[in-house]
Amino acid sequence: MSEKSYDLIVIGGGPAGYVASIRAAQLGMQVACVDKRATLGGTCLNVGCIPSKALLHSSERFAFAKEEAAAHGIALQGVELDLAAMMGRKQKVVDDLTKGIDYLLDKNKVDRFHGSASIPAAGKVQVSLADGGSVELPTRNILIATGSEPTSLPGIQIDERQVVSSTGALALETVPEHLVVIGAGVIGLELGSVWSRLGARVTVVEFLDHILPGMDRDVSKQAQKILGKQGLDFRLSSKVTALVTATSGVAVQVEPSQGGEPEQLDADVVLVAVGRRPYTEGLGLEAVGVTQDERGFLAVDGAFQTSVPGIYAVGDCVPGPMLAHKAEEDAIACVETLAGQAGHVDYDRVPGVVYTHPEIAGVGKTEDALKAEGTPYRAAKFPFSANSRAKATGETDGFVKVLVSEEHARVLGMHIIGPGAGDLLQEAVLGLEYGATAEDLARTCHAHPGMGEAVKEAALAALGRALHI
Ligand code: FAD
Ligand code: NAI
Repeated sequence: MSEKSYDLIVIGGGPAGYVASIRAAQLGMQVACVDKRATLGGTCLNVGCIPSKALLHSSERFAFAKEEAAAHGIALQGVELDLAAMMGRKQKVVDDLTKGIDYLLDKNKVDRFHGSASIPAAGKVQVSLADGGSVELPTRNILIATGSEPTSLPGIQIDERQVVSSTGALALETVPEHLVVIGAGVIGLELGSVWSRLGARVTVVEFLDHILPGMDRDVSKQAQKILGKQGLDFRLSSKVTALVTATSGVAVQVEPSQGGEPEQLDADVVLVAVGRRPYTEGLGLEAVGVTQDERGFLAVDGAFQTSVPGIYAVGDCVPGPMLAHKAEEDAIACVETLAGQAGHVDYDRVPGVVYTHPEIAGVGKTEDALKAEGTPYRAAKFPFSANSRAKATGETDGFVKVLVSEEHARVLGMHIIGPGAGDLLQEAVLGLEYGATAEDLARTCHAHPGMGEAVKEAALAALGRALHI
């Protein structure tokens, strides 16, 4: 047993865990953070948000140089891909950011343990240290922030070479000739876009009859059109029933979702992107009495306490959107509540952004959700083709869609497909937080020429007085 006793031991150093550690230290707690990875930052920094965004950005530059520069009067010859250099840049971005988390934990005097944690009992964390030996740490509270892992399909083995999860798809050493992606969700579209821009033929097999389930239907339809034009070949209402791997490639059996004639696709690499599940292996939850739901998520109350007093959980391993910023909000709310303050996260106001080109972003209710709950609403749209900044940059695909309440035009949701959609959406996120109406958005001065004017015009359109359409 260690000499030192902690107020809080956080298991997991991802966006949930490291943010919880920093905030708890700021609030005066003695904190330790345990992660079994050599580098902090969890899935997000090591094999998720950051490396994918680095590759999305680099591949977009490559596609611009090859396909769009000429239209801007930029004559480029001999544009070639140096995949090793692109991957090297991605790794440097990851390394710099993960080192940054070490610095932040040091600065806040959070003790860092590199090893696998388990919970022998409430008030104790056992760490099998990565460089040998183990230590038992006494603590008043434990916070589980162990994140999630990719799921697969029955009978499909991920080898991270020919059949890859997002982790393998972020580190391919050559551009596959034909990449088959299973799942037209966020990972499928982002990583499908990366490899398509770098020269792969990409086929995306999706079980449902539309892409990006959960996003507003107008946006998902438009996304399918735009990404289809960019070269992604969508096989909707289809399921993969078997994969046969050989040294020459992977034979992918595809059938209509409701059954029917099977078809074979020959792929070099298959990316399985059918969702993620909570990761809690090795914690010893059953023995200590922490309950999980049927999908493996830890059941928590409003204060993020699990079924065992003194043991809390946040981030991807608890219900809610599996997003880094949601994980961080959970962490802050949990730790501040633990310190006697108030904390709450409204999952209806968590923005979601897909970093394709153009970006796709949404917050609040979708039109389908409003219809299903019977809320009277008005919908209005403003296309980027009528926005002067988008005209100037040549990024006119897409629109801003706003959903407002019938009676007071209160903003209920915003959905954007277009240039910088993720950043533009933030105005609506703040608006939702403050209970803004379309009138509030429309009367806010927006700089000209700016993509943000499309948000203002969509709000004006909801009031029946758009100026530029
Ligand atoms: P994690 O980041 O998964 O961290 C959990 C940590 O716990 C890990 O480091 C793990 O090693 C550690 N751990 C687990 N068990 C133990 C144990 N027993 N002992 C010690 N340590 C343990 N989200 C966004 O918001 N925006 C994006 O653009 C985005 N892009 C993504 C792209 C990809 C390819 C993927 C896969 C995910 C992406 N996500 C994105 C989702 C985001 O990565 C997760 O929502 C986020 O990382 C969840 O944070 P977390 O702290 O809950 O868990
Ligand atoms: P997802 O849930 O976004 O998409 C999975 C897709 O696979 C769905 O469209 C689903 O209908 C489809 N599917 C499921 N079973 C299938 C089958 N048998 N055959 C064909 N299609 C099937 O999951 P994804 O893309 O794996 O991402 C996991 C998580 O990571 C998401 O929850 C997301 O929030 C997070 N993430 C977030 C990003 C971002 O914020 N930009 C980027 C990448 C991941």
